[in-house]
Amino acid sequence: MSRNEDLQKRRDAAFARGLGNQLAVYVERARNAELWDVEGRRYIDFAGGIAVLNTGHLHPKVQAAVARQLDAFSHTCLMITPYAVAVELAEKLIRLAPGPTPKKAIFVTTGAEAVENCIKIARAHTGRSGVIAFGGGFHGRTFMAMALTGKVAPYKAGFGPFPAEVYHAPFPIAYHGVSVQDSLDALDHLFKYDIEPARVAAIIIEPVMGEGGFYIAPPEFLQALRRLCDEHGIVLVIDEIQTGFARTGRMFAVEHAGIEPDLMTMAKSLAGGFPLAAVVGKAEIMDAPAPGGLGGTYAGSPIACAAGLAVIEAIEQENLCARAVAIGELMAGALRELAREIPAIGEVRNLGAMVAMELVKNRDPHAPDADLTRALTKRVAEKGLVLLSCGLYGNVIRFLVPLTAPDAIVREGLGIVADALRELTGIAVKAAANA
Ligand SMILES: Cc1ncc(COP(=O)(O)O)c(C=O)c1O
Repeated sequence: MSRNEDLQKRRDAAFARGLGNQLAVYVERARNAELWDVEGRRYIDFAGGIAVLNTGHLHPKVQAAVARQLDAFSHTCLMITPYAVAVELAEKLIRLAPGPTPKKAIFVTTGAEAVENCIKIARAHTGRSGVIAFGGGFHGRTFMAMALTGKVAPYKAGFGPFPAEVYHAPFPIAYHGVSVQDSLDALDHLFKYDIEPARVAAIIIEPVMGEGGFYIAPPEFLQALRRLCDEHGIVLVIDEIQTGFARTGRMFAVEHAGIEPDLMTMAKSLAGGFPLAAVVGKAEIMDAPAPGGLGGTYAGSPIACAAGLAVIEAIEQENLCARAVAIGELMAGALRELAREIPAIGEVRNLGAMVAMELVKNRDPHAPDADLTRALTKRVAEKGLVLLSCGLYGNVIRFLVPLTAPDAIVREGLGIVADALRELTGIAVKAAANA
């Protein structure tokens, strides 16, 4: 039995089955956009630990900052005896958050926790209870975050009842025939059928749906939500957990729409692989909860904060926003070229380096091909590439290559995708011909 197989057997025996697992590839070491398994096999990493590694595996700046912090101290609890590195990172995030209104921050440990805290803060500020999220959106696996998530299987099935007063509206997706006006009309209907706007505390939205399929919220939709929230005193929460930190060509994706969020969530690539999340928002709203109402034992770990400062320095010094645009053009260009040849590629879309390819049967947007998507992630892994799928129907390939990856690695990974897709669709054509 190989070492990977042996570890997989032990993994399956040790972990509950609810903890998903894509590949039986046990990592020994990783650098930038490559990793090596326990059997010495090399992989290109187009997953980035699910959008955590915009600055790549073990960026030298992150590694050095963490080593320095480990020499000093690793934990005291930010709520007991605080430390400068956390204050400095909070100040940086406040400065980076879009819009002129004075801001404040809190640190927590995971993305879901950041989402939970946004709802707590919005409710404390408004004195209202309702929350509106969008179908297909993903906001995490804790109870309120799960309730806000707009996908039943596998995230919500069997886990109810959920917190009350959560409503979903359709996300505008042109490719699936849902226009911006359709989504705005649905919100209007929600206000008529289910809850009056005066009882809504918050609307939460991802500027580009992550887990839901990399659908990009049109700027005019986010602008309309901003106006709607202003009109009714609703807190607009922008979930930047997957889109943040240069991924889309701006520090935060919401900047493409030119609006100022009331609250923003940040996590994933914030700290280059160390568990750290934040809520950053308008000071007046952030200060609504009473002292002690927010926080957590590990919230704002000094090691993670040191990593976070190094990540931001790397993004700024290495112009990773511009690099995201270049990577996006390279990838989307190559995939669009491939789409001309392969009818299974229904749509290629990207905002910067947040790139997706939707796989369908015979170019029909309404015929998702989840089987082909699954087969593709499996086949590319056999060829040495870690690749993720997503989407409400499991038929979208998402590309989250580190922004520090050289063009040669990006091209090599794309080559593997193209070869595997030609192979798999060729086999499908032959199988159909033989049937
Ligand atoms: C947009 C978005 N929100 C929230 C979360 C939850 O983050 P975490 O898994 O760190 O709890 C995720 C994770 O994928 C996400 O993509």
